[in-house]
Amino acid sequence: MPTTSRLFVVLFGAQGSGKGTQARLLQDRYGIPQIATGDLFRHNLKNKTELGQLAQSYMDRGELVPDDVTNAMVKARLERDDTARGAIFDGYPRNTAQARALSEILAEQGGEVGRAIYIDVSHDALMDRLTGRRVCRNCQATYHMIFNPPQSAGVCDRCGGPLYQRDDDKDTDAIDRRLQLYFDETLPVIDWYRSEGLLAEVDGDQEIARVQTEIVEKLS
Ligand code: AP5
Ligand code: MG
Ligand code: ZN
Repeated sequence: MPTTSRLFVVLFGAQGSGKGTQARLLQDRYGIPQIATGDLFRHNLKNKTELGQLAQSYMDRGELVPDDVTNAMVKARLERDDTARGAIFDGYPRNTAQARALSEILAEQGGEVGRAIYIDVSHDALMDRLTGRRVCRNCQATYHMIFNPPQSAGVCDRCGGPLYQRDDDKDTDAIDRRLQLYFDETLPVIDWYRSEGLLAEVDGDQEIARVQTEIVEKLS
């Protein structure tokens, strides 16, 4: 990894591979924020902003929100002080245009991607993970009804907020579209990071703590 005081990590993986779950753990461990474009869109949606309304139509169909909108949102997020020591990108970049944009945005700030982690999960496990997922409406922590249940049903362990099911997790057609998009658009980005020597792969078909240990090993 490049020797820089700022640590920028990109997490890749299909929908349901555990990017959000692992990014939260890394955030706690390294004290650098998770930047999850899907969470940022959902936050805007909840607050009924113009950006949220625009994003909703794409998210409901399982399509990508346009690159210019997404890149501008990430750029604005990176201008906040809490990224002074780095960030963990979750769900971004998702295509080669976004990967180029991220390099440019970071270069403007004197930073660069230090490591890209690919969480590899078998196709069969993904649908079970997505349909059983529940998310905190307050802090967006992620749970699973069977694999990672909260201590008290329907209530977030971290903040006591109510848990809900994402709309795009209820529609199996939308899930299929998201998975197809991932294979069409995101796999070329992974290949690009591999060719740059930045990619490390971890086996995501293991329990959550074990996946975390493997990621931390790849970051050290
Ligand atoms: P986004 O919110 O990023 O959704 P996604 O890509 O579909 O990814 P997920 O959040 O579904 O999966 P995850 O890998 O985070 O899994 P999780 O940790 O929750 O994007 C939503 C939409 O926003 C997109 O469709 C698009 O429209 C738009 N968007 C977002 N980014 C964009 C961009 N850059 N450009 C354009 N548009 C964009 O885990 C899943 C479940 O499995 C959980 O229930 C968890 O508890 C459980 N679990 C996790 N790990 C394990 C394990 N090891 N074993 C067992 N269970 C596990
Ligand atoms: Mg996620
Ligand atoms: Zn919460």
